[in-house]
Amino acid sequence: MDLQFTRHRRLRQNPAIRNLIREHHLHVHDLIYPLFVIHGHNVRNEISSMPGVFQLSLDQLEQEIKEIVMLGIQGVILFGIPEDKDEIGSGAYHDHGIVQEATRLIKQIAPKLLVIADTCLCEFTDHGHCGVIHEGKVLNDPSLDLLARTAISQARAGADMIAPSNMMDGFVAAIRKGLDEAGFEDVPIMSYAVKYASSFYGPFRDAAHSAPQFWDRKTYQMDPANGREALREAYSDVVEGADILMVKPALAYMDIIYQVKQQFNLPLAAYNVSGEYAMIKAAAQNGWVDEKKIVIEMLTGMKRAGADIIITYFAKDVAKWLKEE
Ligand code: PBG
Repeated sequence: MDLQFTRHRRLRQNPAIRNLIREHHLHVHDLIYPLFVIHGHNVRNEISSMPGVFQLSLDQLEQEIKEIVMLGIQGVILFGIPEDKDEIGSGAYHDHGIVQEATRLIKQIAPKLLVIADTCLCEFTDHGHCGVIHEGKVLNDPSLDLLARTAISQARAGADMIAPSNMMDGFVAAIRKGLDEAGFEDVPIMSYAVKYASSFYGPFRDAAHSAPQFWDRKTYQMDPANGREALREAYSDVVEGADILMVKPALAYMDIIYQVKQQFNLPLAAYNVSGEYAMIKAAAQNGWVDEKKIVIEMLTGMKRAGADIIITYFAKDVAKWLKEE
């Protein structure tokens, strides 16, 4: 036979060869696990659209944190559900707010576990928007001051990293300046640099009680149809002093993850959001997909696209699966 062709299958013929040439690996150190903390006692509410994910009151945290640490997960990101909400989200920057209290407690239980504080107002405002509202608008600049105050109070409570998700313009600059002036120049900012106005956040809004009560988030979060705009957003955050960039959601935005990684020289996080989790859980519960295999494939795809860090509700499951191997 004088056909000329390449034998790609030579390098696929057994597991050892496949292991040898594998380009991307998922590691437990890549993962960050989101936690929803809520006021009250003995609260362990499973989110109906997110099976296996719970709102936890502070007294439930010890057991949860010990499990996370035992699994080798290095970081959690905190979302808070406050007792009271108001127009200006004051629960976000109260020194005894739910996120601040949870942070102090977690640092006591597990001092080495990275506590990342999500910095936003939407869980704390009665209207559910990520900034303050006046005369029919979500105002940009007046929101910056509140976001900086939130970040400072989170750092004061012991947060190891600040993750601002509000999508106001200039939030990284405002938060960096606020942290530096308050003496927290060593606290890094992982900026939700590229955050789309996505329907994939639906289950999260059930979990965090953070749905906007009117309008939508399209005047501050990005249009899913835009790619080049993502690079402009990322550029601003780099210039303003972000330490780590994030793209969110992940699954429908692999091209954005890839481009941001190629273009900017900062570590990159991908947020595997609530809707991505809910879809797989639902399909798996119906026996339509193999949950473990599909999750590993999805998250490995995010790494292949360029993510260094993955925030995922599957973190505990993945950590268990990786240990089994
Ligand atoms: C707050 C915030 C949201 C998410 C993370 N931080 C919701 C939103 O912007 O409406 C979504 C996370 C997820 O869906 O898992 N601004």
